[in-house]
Amino acid sequence: MLDHVVHVVGARPNFVKAAPVVAALRAAGQPQSVVHTGQHYDERMSHIFFRELGLPEPDVDLGVGSGSHARQTAALLTALEAELTARPPGLVMVYGDVNSTLAAALVAAKLGLPVAHVEAGLRSFDMTMPEEVNRRLTDQLAELLFVTSAEAVGHLANEGVVPDRIHFVGNPMIDTLMAHLPRFDAQAAREAHGLPERYGVVTLHRPANVDDPSAASAAVKALREAAEHIELAVPLHPRGRAALEAAGLGEARRVRILEPLGYLEFMGLLRGAAVVITDSGGVQEETTVLRVPCLTLRPNTERPVTVTHGTNRLVTPDGLVPALIETLDGSPAAPEGPPLWDGRAGERIARIVTDWRKARSHHA
Ligand code: UD1
Ligand code: UDP
Repeated sequence: MLDHVVHVVGARPNFVKAAPVVAALRAAGQPQSVVHTGQHYDERMSHIFFRELGLPEPDVDLGVGSGSHARQTAALLTALEAELTARPPGLVMVYGDVNSTLAAALVAAKLGLPVAHVEAGLRSFDMTMPEEVNRRLTDQLAELLFVTSAEAVGHLANEGVVPDRIHFVGNPMIDTLMAHLPRFDAQAAREAHGLPERYGVVTLHRPANVDDPSAASAAVKALREAAEHIELAVPLHPRGRAALEAAGLGEARRVRILEPLGYLEFMGLLRGAAVVITDSGGVQEETTVLRVPCLTLRPNTERPVTVTHGTNRLVTPDGLVPALIETLDGSPAAPEGPPLWDGRAGERIARIVTDWRKARSHHA
């Protein structure tokens, strides 16, 4: 199978984004395989998503695991080079902005294999974020750039990318949301965790919020105050757990710390929430479509469309409680939703990939 499409995935958000693209390429009859790098490996960070989202079992799991950026990236590069050399594909598809994304793009480029980047062109303009480094470099290396929102087209154009490479297709993460929406059972998720009818959901895992103890303690102080106004369910990413617990999150009244949740249960909880407090990229987008107010504990966002067309608002730790009070007292937002977030991004990507492959084999 020398001319197949290989999807390289490794971390939780990759699985949610890849599922509709894999499904649409399957429907289009394209040969393909899935390589899991093993960047995320816990049952609740990885395998549950494959089962719930109908992703095929990975053809290969490289088992790369955790480490510093250099160690993890080095292990990814080595393992991916061996894999893509042993079974060279006709196209390497990468997703989002995690270390697995950049490593796969870099290995493919050096092997002379074409790369498609799904979720290209997002920019926070904050180079202290590892994701910003990964995004910028991946976009430089990719031949096909699939874009989720209009401003991303502008960012790529400003960086000198020729328009032929850029395809505004919508948002595959929202395809997944729409495909599974009837299975998001808010009441069941709430009852399973003993939450009252009105509750908030919190997710925090960005290094800027959880790695530095003083940042973690500012976040925990803000969350403890927030919990005076509304009970909070906090499914914690393993990265931040120790730091947030050390800063006293576990002892806070009306704060329930949970394990990371599977997709369906998490989205059930999100759907029924009165407010969401997060630093996640995906959650800013999902709340936009679910029309749940979202307070993003970050100084910037690479997803400004969630602010202009959605429910999202950026807050500092000090600004969290005033924003929360305003949100809880205000009338629910009724955003129009960003253009092309209509559940059909996977189909559009599959059509472009199919045409691109036809044109390529024609010229070969
Ligand atoms: C990664 C991405 C981030 C993304 C996040 C999604 C990079 C640079 N960052 O961050 O952009 O938002 O995934 O969830 O790629 N760990 C476990 N079990 C696992 C996986 C990780 O316990 O299955 C723990 C390990 O202690 C590990 C730490 O989490 O060192 C961080 O994992 P890593 O993949 O390096 O980065 P994330 O913080 O998950
Ligand atoms: N998610 C989940 N369970 C959780 C937290 C998140 O299923 O406990 C899902 C949710 O769909 C989210 C996606 O995983 O959009 C990616 O989440 P994460 O915040 O880890 O990554 P980011 O989008 O910040 O890169």
